[in-house]
Amino acid sequence: MYSLEFLEDVARGAGRIIKDKYHDNNAWREKSGPGDVVTEVDELSERYIIDRVHCEYSHDDILSEEAGAIGSGEGKNIWIMDPLDGTRNYMMRVPFFCVSIAVAREGRAFIGVTYDPIHDEMFSASRGEGAFLNGERIRIPNQESLEDSVISVSWVKRKVDRGKFVEYIRDISKDTSYFRRFGAAALVMCYVACGRVHGYLQGGLNPWDVAAGTLIIEEAGGVVTDFAGQPINLGDKDIEVLTANPKLHDLLLNRVILRAGAS
Ligand code: IPD
Ligand code: CA
Ligand code: CA
Repeated sequence: MYSLEFLEDVARGAGRIIKDKYHDNNAWREKSGPGDVVTEVDELSERYIIDRVHCEYSHDDILSEEAGAIGSGEGKNIWIMDPLDGTRNYMMRVPFFCVSIAVAREGRAFIGVTYDPIHDEMFSASRGEGAFLNGERIRIPNQESLEDSVISVSWVKRKVDRGKFVEYIRDISKDTSYFRRFGAAALVMCYVACGRVHGYLQGGLNPWDVAAGTLIIEEAGGVVTDFAGQPINLGDKDIEVLTANPKLHDLLLNRVILRAGAS
């Protein structure tokens, strides 16, 4: 009933809209406050995705970043989508942003795609079927230690305890100085899945930032939890993400996060 071909086609269509307008002076406005911005392109992409989903799956609920919740809320399956993840990069013409679309049931995605239109990279997964980049199987690498690992760290200042994040970074920096802050959570998660970064920790995320990425990482053999080591629930609002291969995830959780929590 749900096919990766359909999700990929919709993500490609939205990606085309985003890419075509990349060099335009797109109108934008603040949402909740400084730093929280939306452009007209986020909304154009969202309109396109919602129309396509409504045409094919008129009874399903939708949760989309700008439009919010659409539907009765009683359906079993819910489309969770970020029509443009990395809006700030997009506005500043940093070519790192994506479209992310997943379908979830009981707080977990079972099919999802994340598309980077600039590099024409389509990350996809369906539960139990593996994760793919442009149709090629991806697997998370077996990095065994934190030593010289590349770790993406990020937080939203108005939502999380900055002190804790500084503590995490201080601790991890005993082993590595390869920190990254990319600016598009959904795409970073795909970079974890295919081994371009070894681990990622962030607080203050929303379901649409992590729905597809969580599935893609799990299907690539990685682990995704919150900072207490619990599975991600897409019904939650402020979502923490800690992800890496199983060995590194264990190190990050037990040696860095839980220890800082205890201090
Ligand atoms: C944001 C990006 C950013 C992350 C924020 C998100 P948006 O999404 O993923 O990397 O740090 O938490 O809200 O607003 O560009 O879709
Ligand atoms: Ca986002
Ligand atoms: Ca967005």
